Amino acid sequence: MSATGASPVVRALVAIISFAALTALLFMFASDGLYLWIKAIHVIAVISWMAGMLYLPRLFVYHADTPIGSDQSETFKVMERRLLRAIINPAMIVSWAFGLWLAWRGFGFHGGWLHAKIAFVLLLSGVHGYLSASVRRFADDRNTASSRHWKIVNEVPTLLMIVIVILVIVKPF
Ligand code: HEM
Repeated sequence: MSATGASPVVRALVAIISFAALTALLFMFASDGLYLWIKAIHVIAVISWMAGMLYLPRLFVYHADTPIGSDQSETFKVMERRLLRAIINPAMIVSWAFGLWLAWRGFGFHGGWLHAKIAFVLLLSGVHGYLSASVRRFADDRNTASSRHWKIVNEVPTLLMIVIVILVIVKPF
């Protein structure tokens, strides 16, 4: 075990098992009467996920311009790792588990807006994977991307969020 905790493979396995267990529990035991409560938890998780997805690339913007080995750079590493592990990863797991239950019990997985929403959330999850790999690159002092690159990446979750929220609220098709 390293100073930063378990290996990435172990953490990924724990995340997959937690997601599978939470989803299975919801699908087996949650009743229709809980729909609004589950939607409330889904929205709380989504807000936490998005807060982290907007803040993390902003930290990278400043970290990219910080000299390797400086105190400031080491502080950014701790902030990035904690934000990813304590907020972003758990929030994504809860968003997916509760969102899939809503899609099943509320809509039987039918609806063009729902399929489009899930496709955009898959893209958002891909950005999540990229940011997560970037936390490891920064931690190993291997980041080569400029602060300008991170400023551009910072806009991607914002654009995806706008499309996703319009799809689920307006349900245009
Ligand atoms: C992770 C995969 C996701 C799935 C499968 C999913 C699915 C759903 C479903 C089926 C609903 C219920 C809609 C209704 O009752 O009318 C819902 C609600 C909602 N979702 Fe998601 N969602 C996911 C992720 C997200 C993300 C990433 C966001 C925002 C960026 C989001 C924002 C919302 C909002 C704001 C609502 C409340 C809509 C309302 O009550 O009118 N969801 N979601």
